Amino acid sequence: PKIILRSPDGNTHTVDARVGASVMETAVKHGVPGIVAECGGALSCATCHVYVSDSCLERAGAAEDFEDEMLDDATSERRPNSRLSCQIRMSDELDGLEVEIAPEQ
Ligand code: FES
Repeated sequence: PKIILRSPDGNTHTVDARVGASVMETAVKHGVPGIVAECGGALSCATCHVYVSDSCLERAGAAEDFEDEMLDDATSERRPNSRLSCQIRMSDELDGLEVEIAPEQ
């Protein structure tokens, strides 16, 4: 499945994800700038903050309780479409997922 990521520098990157890999892992693996992912996906840093595009919100699903709490500590403004990208697992259903990487992590 493909992910379309918009970086804070304004560039758009379309990358191929492995099914089961997180959006964070995939972005880091492809060298997409903007995600820090300090904790490596352990849900303890909130430095993998992204905004899911409105058209993909339903497919991406909502944040679980703990992720939701962590999002309150994110550096960039929290929005209704905020997610921590290490908690979004790629599947064929999510092909074409579009996210914008939050400007500050
Ligand atoms: Fe740390 Fe996502 S990488 S919470």
